[in-house]
Amino acid sequence: MTNKMWGGRFKEGPSAIMAEINASINFDQRLYAQDIAGSKAHAAMLAKQGIITKSDAADIGKGLDQILNEIEQGKFKFSAALEDIHLNVESRLKELIGDAAGRLHTARSRNDQAVTDMRLYVRDCVDALDAALQELQVALASKAEAHAATLMPGFTHLQSAQPVTFGHHLLAYVEMLGRDRARLADARKRVNENALGAAALAGTSYPIDRHMTSKDLGFSGPMRNSMDAVSARDYILEVLSACTISSIHLSRLAEEIVIWCSSQFRFVKLSDKFTTGSSIMPQKRNPDAAELIRAKPGRILGAFTALAMVMKGLPMAYAKDMQEDKELTFDALDNFALAIAAMAGMVRDMEPQVATLKAAANADYSTATDLADWLVQVLKMPFREAHHVTGRVVALAEKKSCTLSELRLEDMQAIHGGITKDVYKRLTVEASVASRTSFGGTAPANVRREARRWLRASKGK
Ligand code: ARG
Repeated sequence: MTNKMWGGRFKEGPSAIMAEINASINFDQRLYAQDIAGSKAHAAMLAKQGIITKSDAADIGKGLDQILNEIEQGKFKFSAALEDIHLNVESRLKELIGDAAGRLHTARSRNDQAVTDMRLYVRDCVDALDAALQELQVALASKAEAHAATLMPGFTHLQSAQPVTFGHHLLAYVEMLGRDRARLADARKRVNENALGAAALAGTSYPIDRHMTSKDLGFSGPMRNSMDAVSARDYILEVLSACTISSIHLSRLAEEIVIWCSSQFRFVKLSDKFTTGSSIMPQKRNPDAAELIRAKPGRILGAFTALAMVMKGLPMAYAKDMQEDKELTFDALDNFALAIAAMAGMVRDMEPQVATLKAAANADYSTATDLADWLVQVLKMPFREAHHVTGRVVALAEKKSCTLSELRLEDMQAIHGGITKDVYKRLTVEASVASRTSFGGTAPANVRREARRWLRASKGK
């Protein structure tokens, strides 16, 4: 059987393989709400412009509402022979309202229709992702406020470097997510442009009003070139690229959580809700959610790479290659949303192990920089020399297997005679973090203020 929607010039229907490679209904049916919204806006505009009658437009509107209902109730029968969501909806409309259905496709093509649906869909996803990222920021900032003064080792090269606070560490991620949200917000501007009315590629001879459909569908305005409108997919690439970067941020935190809850670290405890057991080793608590979040950038960047390759070298305007944008985008955005939600759940429940963190903060001569700073500030020593003297003090502590603050004053004085007992005030981890009051520094007062600022800002929205 030839295709009932476009088979006029064909004698034979497609082979089974042709139908299989061509059909997108299995995955583009998730665009049903956007497809129906786009069609309603189009029909209303056609009527307003006198291109179809008001009574046909009313029938079309009613029929489309019924179809929306049928789909939402699970009563709609999707047909692979009808290829995609657009033809499935239109064909059902014909069953419901008869010939008026055939007027809906005046002055448009599936090329502009498919892009319109997808732009509406991606716009909704971007908004949902933004809200989810904000929730994650709130989870992080709340935990940061509660642990503004909880000591932990700060690392460089994954070697203990200087003491920081747990809150400060978490707020670093709040900052990253803030930039991720800004990137998505910027990409959204270019998602939110109206392709409808570009028709197949050249525009149309009907007196359509693309400003009206733009307004109806919440787009910022009509795209200015019909060939660009049907064939641009950079709006998706941008969103995928912003999601890739953000998922990389999540993966860094995920990896830290994996490390932190290992028995070698024991820095945090995850709740039962966000850990799994082993089928063979009864004692185990595995951070599977964190591991899966760590893995997601592969998948999301994979979608970006795949779509970039689909688009590379494609001549204008529309080509069926572009249908491949959908599964990639759906998979990437679904997985990113899931990763954000799982991370927010994990962070909310996570319990930093305060005593273990403090002991680790104390280890490895983490206040050596504070000793050097004391030598500079009190003895007016040049920093390079102070660094050298401190190195010798550290070597001595190492030899005696003690911390810097456990060294005897005489032992330190043997290395540099100017050292007085005043130095001990600076050698504790508490004093170290409290002294880091520079803008953006780890002092608990700073951290508390920053966490509160974030929490206030997120309530303001
Ligand atoms: N399902 C198609 C897509 O997503 C719709 C456009 C089809 N256009 C066409 N001329 N066959 O790209």
